Amino acid sequence: MTVNNKEFERYIGRNQISDRLNELAGQIDMDYAGKSLVMLAVLNGAFIFAGDLIRLLEVDAEVSFVKLKSYRGTASTGEVQTLIGLMHELKDREVLIVEDIIDTGRTMSKLLEMVWEQSPASVKVCTLLVKPDVFKNKYQLDYVGFSIPDKFVVGYGLDYDELGRQLPDIYKIKD
Ligand code: HPA
Ligand code: MG
Repeated sequence: MTVNNKEFERYIGRNQISDRLNELAGQIDMDYAGKSLVMLAVLNGAFIFAGDLIRLLEVDAEVSFVKLKSYRGTASTGEVQTLIGLMHELKDREVLIVEDIIDTGRTMSKLLEMVWEQSPASVKVCTLLVKPDVFKNKYQLDYVGFSIPDKFVVGYGLDYDELGRQLPDIYKIKD
């Protein structure tokens, strides 16, 4: 499989993704039983994960989106720019942030700050993928689909220079 002239190999298949999403949805339904939540999905990468996950939930779920851009390479300062900010009233709400992948965790850290400023009742994080080698447990991730090595992945919403998001499976770059 080639995306933007780089070679990728299939890594997590669509059935494995689907099975894991059913498990995550079951946990979320139990944890939020009797409550309603606001799913805050992070664009662009999380759009497919959030769309699939919300259709598996039985608890009442509203949906809202944010779009953040993190500048890598600028080392320690790690600036995060808000392209689409919080549009949803989050005061006293149960907020479930939905992300495609967490590697350094810098973007999520900034988003958590932004959300907590709105005085929500609770904030939890649900990420399809995490790279523990780089994330190093900087804060709690409440729901994790898969922990993966620090290898570049595409598909199921994740891109390589904006391409590859449409792939139904997740692919890992070939060494
Ligand atoms: N793939 C796509 N986008 C990403 C990745 C990745 O491995 N890590 C952080 N953003
Ligand atoms: Mg993302």
